[in-house]
Amino acid sequence: MRIILTGASGFVGCNIAKVMTDHHGDDVFAERVDMTNRTEIESHIDEHEPDAIVHCAILNDWDLMYSDRHLAWDSYVGATRNYMVAAEEREIPCVLVSTDFVFDGTRGNYLETDVPNPVNFYGFLKAASEVVALEHNGIVARVSGVNGQHWARPTTPRAQDPGFGYFVASLVDALEAGNTFTVWEGPELNSRASPSLASMCGEVIRTAAATEGTAGSIFHCCGSEAVTRRQLAEAACKVFSLDPGLLRFGPAPASELEGKRFPHDSSLSAVATSERLGTPLPTVEELLKGFLHERLTGQLADLR
Ligand SMILES: NC(=O)c1ccc[n+]([C@@H]2O[C@H](COP(=O)([O-])OP(=O)(O)OC[C@H]3O[C@@H](n4cnc5c(N)ncnc54)[C@H](OP(=O)(O)O)[C@@H]3O)[C@@H](O)[C@H]2O)c1
Repeated sequence: MRIILTGASGFVGCNIAKVMTDHHGDDVFAERVDMTNRTEIESHIDEHEPDAIVHCAILNDWDLMYSDRHLAWDSYVGATRNYMVAAEEREIPCVLVSTDFVFDGTRGNYLETDVPNPVNFYGFLKAASEVVALEHNGIVARVSGVNGQHWARPTTPRAQDPGFGYFVASLVDALEAGNTFTVWEGPELNSRASPSLASMCGEVIRTAAATEGTAGSIFHCCGSEAVTRRQLAEAACKVFSLDPGLLRFGPAPASELEGKRFPHDSSLSAVATSERLGTPLPTVEELLKGFLHERLTGQLADLR
């Protein structure tokens, strides 16, 4: 397939790009085009005439998002509209990469059909973007608890944060260097989620884009199990053969939480997605083994 992918220099995007090229032989057009500029987007699409678009880019700066809300709106909802309208006019599928943070986290095990109720501005912007996508026959792919290799950068770009993203890489980096790692715990954090491997998300997203009849649908990209931060840390120690004695447990620094809210249990069910697309539902252990394989070999894990 010929695919335009936004955000390919980012963590999730570089995994989607690698899956498309290495596993499927796709032609991926990932030049950075300002996602808020409709004219540039349309000429980029017409230049490459793709069979599908995957919109993965985001303004990933919480402080800027909160301080310039017009910019944030244009970068999330406006950018999604730019790609969705262009794709609809050209009658090609367009996938919006979304998040488990569209849910309020009061219950967990959310289904693809459950109604979002975000508790923070990021979740609100993504939920609004989902509405735009679905109203233009787009496809929504929610990723959650994303861990894995960052193929576009040599080292882990971020440390632990109140979500589950990058959690395993930051823990493994610390323990491999012989340092302790404090697993943040507390009701104000994203405390339970459904981990995924970024490359596995790429497979589900690529399958959703390539499958007939998926327009207007929502898919969940994650494994079969929901875990707490502590359970994920302990599972990572086991799979990566690291000393669990180096783990500490404690509250997150106050600066990480001030004025912010996070969904407590944002875990997703991906059973319906798996049944519809034929995509796998790996256990947490299988996902972590996939990450270990990617880290050791520099090659994609194959969880298909
Ligand atoms: N990582 C997670 O744990 C996680 C969890 C749930 C959902 N997601 C979703 O996954 C997607 C990707 O997230 P990520 O963590 O991979 O983000 P990331 O690593 O911060 O990457 C963001 C990407 O967006 C691009 N970008 C930023 N501003 C842009 C603009 N104005 N025009 C065009 N491109 C722009 C960046 O390009 P430059 O580098 O050139 O600025 C970069 O490629 C998002 O939709 C996010 O909501 C991620």
